[in-house]
Amino acid sequence: MVPFDCFEEPWVIFRGKDSRAGCVQNTCAHRACPLHLGSVTDGRIQCPYHGWEYATDGVCEKMPSTHLLNVHIKALPCVEQDGLIWVWPGNEIPDAPLPSLAPPSGFNIHAQIVMELPVEHGLLLDNLLDLAHAPFTHTSTFAKGWEIPSFVKFMTPAAGLQGYWDPYPIDMEFCPPCMVLSTIGISKPGKIEGRSTQNCSTHLHQLHVCIPSSRQKTRLLYRMSLDFAPLLKHIPFMHILWRHFADKVLNEDLRLVIGQQDRMVRGANVWNLPVSYDKLGIRYRIWRNAVEDGQKQLPFSES
Ligand code: FES
Ligand SMILES: [Fe+2]
Repeated sequence: MVPFDCFEEPWVIFRGKDSRAGCVQNTCAHRACPLHLGSVTDGRIQCPYHGWEYATDGVCEKMPSTHLLNVHIKALPCVEQDGLIWVWPGNEIPDAPLPSLAPPSGFNIHAQIVMELPVEHGLLLDNLLDLAHAPFTHTSTFAKGWEIPSFVKFMTPAAGLQGYWDPYPIDMEFCPPCMVLSTIGISKPGKIEGRSTQNCSTHLHQLHVCIPSSRQKTRLLYRMSLDFAPLLKHIPFMHILWRHFADKVLNEDLRLVIGQQDRMVRGANVWNLPVSYDKLGIRYRIWRNAVEDGQKQLPFSES
């Protein structure tokens, strides 16, 4: 069972009888007990309080010791692709294909980490889409010893949500609705090399998925892949080391972003004075404002 919140509502994902993933409301129809505190048997999630059992379509199929007809809880459409389960928390299912979030060919996944963070998902996306902060914020981790460039730019096609950082060997993309993909040229983990990712022989690829749990909470799914050292992932406890490093990097950001959130709640504008290196973050905000305004044709979309 994977419990998670999305847009303030609690959900739980589990596998049904056909072993396909299903997502139902994480609240029992009887007396609102969280279902993920129970268990899954024969493809049904069982409430731990009085044992009511629900299938992946939300229908209550078993109700021990009593009988009531037509009981069900909300269920969301689910699709599994590239090792991720997508849910659609709306009414009409869009017909657009899902973007591929698999690592590029030649890359192996080395770490997959889930974190629950006490910040609004947009503030986290703003942070992930920004590299100019690295030599000031990440001074104990990956940007230790970086020089401060005289000018930092994000180079991108006129209407794109992807591009590369000048002068860093980092390609980056915002993938709607809440993902950031980045490829970093490195000589060894944590070390930056050269000015362009093409000139680097080894690379680290990252996927960040920022799920809007609630107004001040994000569920972050992080996946890290490398196009070298394929055996590294077989070293015992390597995942603990990756987790430690990911936590350390994120904590460097988090105290600042939590601070921004505090100011935002008190009325500050977090995009008060954008400059040239803020381009990708600003484009994300333009896209997101269009979504919130209910615009049919979204900016930066290909079709
Ligand atoms: S609260 Fe779930 S069965 Fe009673
Ligand atoms: Fe950061």
